[in-house]
Amino acid sequence: MSRSKAIVLMAAGLGTRMKSDVSKVLHPVAGRPMIFYPIRTAIELDAEKIVVVLGHQRERIEAYLKFAFPNAPIQIVIQAQQLGTAHAVLCAKDALAGFEGDVFILSGDVPALPTDVIEELDSAGRSAVVSVLGMNLHKPGAYGRLITDGDGALKAITEARDCTPEQRAVTIVNAGVYRADAKFLFASLQQIGTDNAQNEYYLTDIVADAVKRQLSVSMTVLEGDDAGLAEGVNDRLGLARAEARMQDRLRRDAMLSGVTLIDPTTVVLHDGVKIGPDTTIEPNVSLLGKTEIGSGCFIEQGCRISDTSVGDNCHIKANCHIEKTSVESSCQVGPFARLREGTSLGTGVKVGNFVETKKARFDDGAKASHLSYIGDAHVGASANIGAGTITCNYDGYRKFKTEIGANAFIGSDTQLVAPVKVGDGAIVAAGSTVTKDVPSDALALSRMAQTNKDGWAEKKRRLEQSRES
Ligand code: UD1
Ligand code: CA
Repeated sequence: MSRSKAIVLMAAGLGTRMKSDVSKVLHPVAGRPMIFYPIRTAIELDAEKIVVVLGHQRERIEAYLKFAFPNAPIQIVIQAQQLGTAHAVLCAKDALAGFEGDVFILSGDVPALPTDVIEELDSAGRSAVVSVLGMNLHKPGAYGRLITDGDGALKAITEARDCTPEQRAVTIVNAGVYRADAKFLFASLQQIGTDNAQNEYYLTDIVADAVKRQLSVSMTVLEGDDAGLAEGVNDRLGLARAEARMQDRLRRDAMLSGVTLIDPTTVVLHDGVKIGPDTTIEPNVSLLGKTEIGSGCFIEQGCRISDTSVGDNCHIKANCHIEKTSVESSCQVGPFARLREGTSLGTGVKVGNFVETKKARFDDGAKASHLSYIGDAHVGASANIGAGTITCNYDGYRKFKTEIGANAFIGSDTQLVAPVKVGDGAIVAAGSTVTKDVPSDALALSRMAQTNKDGWAEKKRRLEQSRES
């Protein structure tokens, strides 16, 4: 029988070494504020309570958590002064009054830690009152050291600056992630002092306290490549390492689910992006935000696609910039197309090079193959928009809509001055400025009639030549 679980997430610090006006836990990793990840882990662990300890920028963090996790059992507690990690956890005591079970203590600044590592910590050493996650590092740096007795049993955690030289040489360090029995935890925290180099209340002292009370403690140690999983972000270098680790994982997941990445390290994915099997992604592509790509798509190099859904079998050619757009199946886009927010392409639509769209719906089979601006518009099925067509949607004050009927043909270099409608099957002659509605199946022609002057060019040439001589 598994015991009930609660989470205490420590996130009250500012993260001074980030040199930022923004709280460390709000800095994004793979497109989400860092604090997203431990909360998701808490939800995956099926925690019955998630207590988040906030201090610096608590309003901003709280607002984000409400937005991102409206239904999670999150309770915010405030640690007004950051007196140390033991004090931070103690701030959760009232919120967990009456809770019996295991408390998992996580940090808001450890984004890359997968949930299964916490599950491992949970299943190892079930009888222990405290289990500590350790990492075996070549360079243990400023981390707390896991100090063991002659038999290799954990007996204390000592902060680097409180270590003797021998203790400093220990390479197994404290990841800052723990499982503790609730009753033991809060009893122990209450008697922790500040007799250390920083005069802070150290959560890590619960280990020596348990040992002193002859209660059993355990540790789970991440070795080799896994050791980096629990790395905390303290500065921008750590942020970049966390990002790299996350990108590796997202690309790996994509490839294992059937996506071809020609040059994986150049592809940037945000957490939550979905890509269907048999889609191929060329180098230097970014798929961001809430983006979903169907199966059998081909995305050429240099595309940046955010908050967009793309159906199956689409071909997005090189260097497209696409945001807040919906593309149905079998479309061709680009190269060099810019689809802006509110663009919606039906099936089999073609939007070609140097076409910009905004708040525009293209019904099935419509085409705008070259060099156009189509904004605040509805383009009917199989309509063809010629090169250089512009919807004049803005009069300097307000925006107006252009409607183009099914099977209409808009000749090249047309200006459609909105509000205006072109009926189904109508033709607009090239070079027209359309200011009045065009009935279905009509021809609209608004340019000047052409006149030819016979021999005029030849006469002009002779005149110029006689001036030169
Ligand atoms: C802590 C551990 C250290 C471990 C390291 C792993 C202690 C005493 N030391 O050190 O053994 O190797 O984490 O990263 O626990 N926080 C609060 N309130 C506070 C203090 C901290 O909420 O009063 C939060 C911070 O915002 C952060 C987390 O707790 O999310 C860890 O605090 P930090 O100051 O980074 O601890 P370290 O010195 O890194
Ligand atoms: Ca830290």
